[in-house]
Amino acid sequence: MTADITVLAGDYIGPEIMAAGLKVLAAVSEGQGFDYQLHEVPFGGAGIDQAGEPLPAETLKTAQQSDAVLLAAIGGPKWDGAPKTPEQGLLAIRKALNLFANIRPTEVSPAMQKYSPLKNTEPVDFVIVRELTSGIYFGTPRETAADYALDTMRYTNEEIERITHVAFEMAMKRRKHVMLVDKANVLATSKRWRKIVAQIATEYPEVTYDTSYVDAASMKIISSPSQFDVILTENLFGDILSDEAAETTGSLGTIPSMSRGTDGPSLYEPIHGSAPDIAGKGIADPISMIRSVAMMLTHSFDRADLAAEITEGINQTVAAGIVTPDLGGKATTTEMTKTIINHIKESRHSYESNHV
Ligand code: NAD
Ligand code: IPM
Ligand code: MN
Repeated sequence: MTADITVLAGDYIGPEIMAAGLKVLAAVSEGQGFDYQLHEVPFGGAGIDQAGEPLPAETLKTAQQSDAVLLAAIGGPKWDGAPKTPEQGLLAIRKALNLFANIRPTEVSPAMQKYSPLKNTEPVDFVIVRELTSGIYFGTPRETAADYALDTMRYTNEEIERITHVAFEMAMKRRKHVMLVDKANVLATSKRWRKIVAQIATEYPEVTYDTSYVDAASMKIISSPSQFDVILTENLFGDILSDEAAETTGSLGTIPSMSRGTDGPSLYEPIHGSAPDIAGKGIADPISMIRSVAMMLTHSFDRADLAAEITEGINQTVAAGIVTPDLGGKATTTEMTKTIINHIKESRHSYESNHV
C-alpha cells in the first residue's frame, strides 16, 4: 500500500521546516517498506495568494482523500486584517475533517534537560488533550458592532463527552492520571465540563482524576510540570497552555501535535505559528515539524519503529549541542536536519554491521 500524504507547507517559516520534515521522512523510510506519495497543495496565506481562498476546495478534497495531512504553519503580517485570513483556513480544515481532538505532547527528555529554563530536574512528560472544533473559536453569535464585539463560548454535552474519552483512553496507556483544566468557578461551560468529565471518570476506575482552575494550572506548569500526565481542556485554554508548556522544553519550536477525529485522515503540525520574525533566515527550529512527521508515522501508519529512529536522531543531535538559535545554538535549519539524518543513517549502519 502506498500512503497518500497531503502536504500543506503554508507561510513564512512553514516551507522551511516542511522541507526539513520531508527530508527526514525520505531518509527514515528508505528501504523500510514504507511507500508514500506526497500531495503538495496551497493552504493558508499561500492558498489566498494562489487560489483566492485560505482553504481552496481542491486542497480540502486532496486532504479528505489522503491517509494523513502534514501541515507546517500558516499566517503572518501579510494577511493580518484582510477580509480572508490564513487562520480562517486552519479553523475550516479542522472543522471539515472533524479533528476534534488535538494532542500536544510536552516532554523534557534527558537530552533536552539542559535547554529547559526551569530549575526542575524531574522528568517532564505530559500531553495536553485540547478540544479543537468547538468552544469560543466556533460559537455563535459572533458579532462586531460599532460599540461592542461578541464571541460565544458554547459546548454541547456530546462535544465534551467525545474528547473526554480520548483523554481517559490516552491516560490508560500512560501513567493513568487526568487533570481537567477549566474555569468552573466562573464559566457555565466549565461547570458543564466538570459534571460530564466526573461522570465519565467513573468508567475509568484505574485513572486518577482531578481538576484545576486554568489560572492555577498555568502556574503549576512552571512550578511543578512533572506532576502532569494528561491535561484535558477546552479549545482556548488548550491553545494558551500548550505554548506555555512548550517553553518548558527550551523552545516553542520543538513541539509537534496530532489532530484527529473518529475516522478519516489525522493532521500533524507543530503547535507554533509561522514565526515571521525569523522567516527567510534559515534558522527555524525544525524539531517541531520533524516530530510531527514521527507522530504521523506512529499514529497514522503504525510505524512506531521509524518514529523511534527519528526521536533517537533528534536526541543525539540536541545532546551534541547542534541546535538552532532558539535553543541557544548556532546551527541552521539545514545543518540541524542533516545531523539528525546522519545519526539515523549511522545507527542503522552500525546495527547492520553488528547483525550480519
Ligand atoms: P509564532 O508561534 O509564529 O512565534 C512566536 C515566537 O516563537 C516567535 O518569536 C518565533 O520566532 C518563535 N518560534 C516559533 N516557531 C519557531 C521555530 N520553529 N523555530 C524558532 N523559533 C520559533 O507566533 P506569532 O508570532 O504570534 O504568530 C505568527 C503567525 O502565525 C500569526 O499569523 C498566527 O496567527 C500564526 N499561527 C499559526 C499557527 C498554525 O499554523 N498552526 C499557530 C500559531 C500561530
Ligand atoms: C494553534 C494556533 C491557532 C489556534 C490559530 C492560528 C488559529 O494558535 O494552532 O495553536 O488558535 O488554534
Ligand atoms: Mn496556538
